[in-house]
Amino acid sequence: MEFNLQNVIFIRLEKQDEIPYELLLLADPSKEVVDSYLKKSVVFIAKLNEETIGVVVLFSLDNNDVEIKNIAVKPQFQGKGLGSYLINSVLKNLEVKNYRNIFIGTANSSISQLYLYQKLGFKIVEIWKNFFVDNYVEPIYENGIQAKHMIRLKKEI
Ligand code: ACO
Repeated sequence: MEFNLQNVIFIRLEKQDEIPYELLLLADPSKEVVDSYLKKSVVFIAKLNEETIGVVVLFSLDNNDVEIKNIAVKPQFQGKGLGSYLINSVLKNLEVKNYRNIFIGTANSSISQLYLYQKLGFKIVEIWKNFFVDNYVEPIYENGIQAKHMIRLKKEI
């Protein structure tokens, strides 16, 4: 069956629902790091029929600022507009509308992610030097580049 975004639903994950670790670990390879923010986050998922095909995790930084800590799409559904749909759905969410700014952080090596976030209106505001070297046990490589620094991007809501 051909994939159609109109058949995708965007819903909040409830406490009793299973946490989609397989997806979360695509965006963040450390389960310890994922668990550290998951407890204090709100999780939304994208569902197609009964299948969870995307996830986005929101973490409140303070009264004004919220952060997308994790966003991931199942590999076979990537590149079909779902990542953009998840971010746009988050921006329309009423709870998120109470914040002024939304942040997202990604590695210097995450080229397509940096492209996507900037295309959706996020602007680079900071670089957290050596974040991935200091906080992850294993070195991370993407696109032939070591993930060393976290590029922080911000969008006004
Ligand atoms: N190389 C080049 N361009 C790409 C790639 C790629 N590998 N993947 C997507 N794109 C482009 C698309 O062509 C599209 O551009 P276009 O609209 O001009 O055609 C654009 O990026 C957005 O693509 P979407 O289809 O909306 O995004 P997608 O559904 O693939 O979701 C995401 C993006 C979430 C990054 C997904 O690829 C993914 O899950 N990746 C693995 C996990 C990950 O890296 N998560 C983000 C880490 S950072 C964080 O979590 C805070």
